[in-house]
Amino acid sequence: MIRERAYPVEPWHVRETRLDLDVLAQSESVFALSNGHIGLRGNLDEGDPHGLPGTYLNSFFELRPLPYAEAGFGFPESGQTIVNVSNGKLIRLLVDDEPFDVRYGELVDHERVLDLRAGTLQRTVEWRSPAGRTVRIRSTRLVSFTQRSVAAIEYRVEPVGGPMRLIVQSELVANEQLPSQSRDPRVAAVLESPLQAEERLVHGDGGLLIHRTKASGLRLAAQMSHEVYGPERKLIGTEAYEDWARTTVTCVLRPGEQLRMVKYVAYGWSSRRSRPALRDQVGAAIAGARFSGWDGLCAEQRDYLDTFWDDSDVRVEGDPEVQQAVRFGLFHVLQAGARAELRPIAAKGLTGPGYDGHAFWDTETFVLPVLTYTLPSAVASALRWRHSTLHLAQERAKTLGLRGAAFPWRTIRGQETSAYWPAGTAGFHIAADIADAVRRYVQATGDTQFEREVGLELLVETARLWRSLGHHDRHGRFHIDGVTGPDEYTAVKNDNVYTNLMAQRNLLAAAEAATRYGEEAWRLGVDDEETAAWRDAAADMYIPWDEELKVHPQVEGFTRYQEWDFVDTPPDQYPLLLNYPYFDLYRKQVVKQADLVLAMHWRGDAFTDEEKASNFAYYERRTVRDSSLSACTQAVLAAEVGQLELAHDYLGEAALMDLHDLNQNTRDGVHVASLAGAWIALVAGFGGLRDHSDVLCFKPRLPSRLDRLEFSLRWRTLHLRVDVRQHEVTYALRGSDHPDAVLELTHHGELLRVTCDDPVTVPVPPLRLTGPQPAQPDGRAPVRRATESEP
Ligand code: BGC
Repeated sequence: MIRERAYPVEPWHVRETRLDLDVLAQSESVFALSNGHIGLRGNLDEGDPHGLPGTYLNSFFELRPLPYAEAGFGFPESGQTIVNVSNGKLIRLLVDDEPFDVRYGELVDHERVLDLRAGTLQRTVEWRSPAGRTVRIRSTRLVSFTQRSVAAIEYRVEPVGGPMRLIVQSELVANEQLPSQSRDPRVAAVLESPLQAEERLVHGDGGLLIHRTKASGLRLAAQMSHEVYGPERKLIGTEAYEDWARTTVTCVLRPGEQLRMVKYVAYGWSSRRSRPALRDQVGAAIAGARFSGWDGLCAEQRDYLDTFWDDSDVRVEGDPEVQQAVRFGLFHVLQAGARAELRPIAAKGLTGPGYDGHAFWDTETFVLPVLTYTLPSAVASALRWRHSTLHLAQERAKTLGLRGAAFPWRTIRGQETSAYWPAGTAGFHIAADIADAVRRYVQATGDTQFEREVGLELLVETARLWRSLGHHDRHGRFHIDGVTGPDEYTAVKNDNVYTNLMAQRNLLAAAEAATRYGEEAWRLGVDDEETAAWRDAAADMYIPWDEELKVHPQVEGFTRYQEWDFVDTPPDQYPLLLNYPYFDLYRKQVVKQADLVLAMHWRGDAFTDEEKASNFAYYERRTVRDSSLSACTQAVLAAEVGQLELAHDYLGEAALMDLHDLNQNTRDGVHVASLAGAWIALVAGFGGLRDHSDVLCFKPRLPSRLDRLEFSLRWRTLHLRVDVRQHEVTYALRGSDHPDAVLELTHHGELLRVTCDDPVTVPVPPLRLTGPQPAQPDGRAPVRRATESEP
């Protein structure tokens, strides 16, 4: 496990000053670079040692059979697993006669720095070989945000103390051997040599490999090209074989001399494009990268990030660790989504093979709300990707005997690939999560073209799903039975409150959009009768309520289930899913992750303040947070019900999920939803942002340790900056093309009008504690963030 404080606290960098081989795989995830199109794990340049070698291309996957002991009708037959593709980051070094390998000789100095503003990973090493020869190496790596098929590495090596012969081997390697699989269902399936060689080529100072997957029929081209600077006398040669290509540079360096190599790597992949087309595509990408040159690529990268941070930075004063973590989180969210462009945003981004590289509801519920207010173009493209898979979701609904679209619980290419119904397709709420992401995006951007082309149909087809999945009982109440809500420890139950409330909003949003776009809706077969049926279902939606306890059961009957025996559950038995049978988890009051509490966030408009406080306290006692998708939501609701210090604790957990490897599985990739959750915990928690309607609502209030929280939101053509202090808040607009632009928002219920010339400063009203003091199950309280002397 990563030691706490492995990385010194700094505002804009994640720095490693000591190489700990026991947590190499974890640091490879933390230091992964990606632009949403290609992703490189933070493997050492020389490849060995490694935790998990990883180079990923968005949606480049292999099919594998899903074996069932007892198959049932409608079970998916094949799974999809992200492929570790040709590794272009390998640069090996021979120092006189010895390979540079940190496990031998002496690592005199080691540092790796992820620079969140430069968008680079830099490594500085001084190494003494077993024979006593010392070299200094400095490598800098980037995955370009501006040239999406390109990664580049600058590699410098110099001798210390005396002349030496250096041989640098820069490689492209396909079908790397991967470590074997553990029994944890959250890790990926291991594919044996998934790539079949099709073509290899040596040209200029580099080479090209083209491969194809056997079953999914995807073709991949990878090309590398080099610029080499150093002493006049050097030998450079390239060779290529089926699964590897290698450029070798040989020279003798005297002290004071340096060998500098810039390696450009480009990837292209397709299910349709021919070999020559892909060859040309990567050739062109390399030409573009060389045209910019190393300095040009770095400058473009910095410009891109300057704009991103200018629009999206969150400043936190009073908790430097959280400050660093929230920027690290935003950086990974950006990396996951920036250039995904009509491809999915996976739960691990492109940082590791965890969950087989699949995208879940994590995207729409946790990642897209952040991107909606920071990089809305990425939201449009993620939802356009969902739309591009609509025909598969419609087919799936048909197989299940339903109407509309049943989007897959987990997928890479759009087909359902979950082999486990209760924590798979039964999570039908993903349909409403997608619909809500559409609603939020359109509301925040006013992008009517998107709404007409994509949004409307997504709303209509998901509404149709709800109408056919649910039913009116003899009293007219609308029920949605046999589904799994967000809490995967309560499965296949009736009337999950989260699902019902989200479906209700989905049905109404579809009816409203169909009215706005009458003609387009008519072309989709929507008539007045259908919209009336949606409105009826929404109006009659049944929401269970326990009158005796005055709380909402998260599913019908939940509050009368047997209690889980937390006192006799030893700490090492968490996560429970690895140590207890599902049947037992399903029939008791134990909650894996925020469910009813999540409903109180995204459908907060459906609960009173008193209900929120008593529900929150009830579910706190039963929620174990075995999913990383929980802490951020608990932070949001803790803040809303006035438990500010507890909210701060949960914020810390969401934000530090990967920097502290809290769930001990960062090795498989970072937890993108939890990292997005750090932003959500700050902005929706302490900023109190709610976007239930087209007037943004804020209820800012800080915990004792934070002196200041500043964040920005993009809203239509405007940029709103919210600057929260302990006793007052300033709302300011900037960057509008229209000098008389006005934004109406509410601050603790009071309507404010903010203009570009007139920032508005208002007091934070005194805190009114609204509910019982919450407690967590034994041993499951979050780590405290307030210091001793503070409350
Ligand atoms: C959670 C799901 C989540 C998945 C991927 C599971 O452990 O329970 O809600 O979608 O992980 O992050």
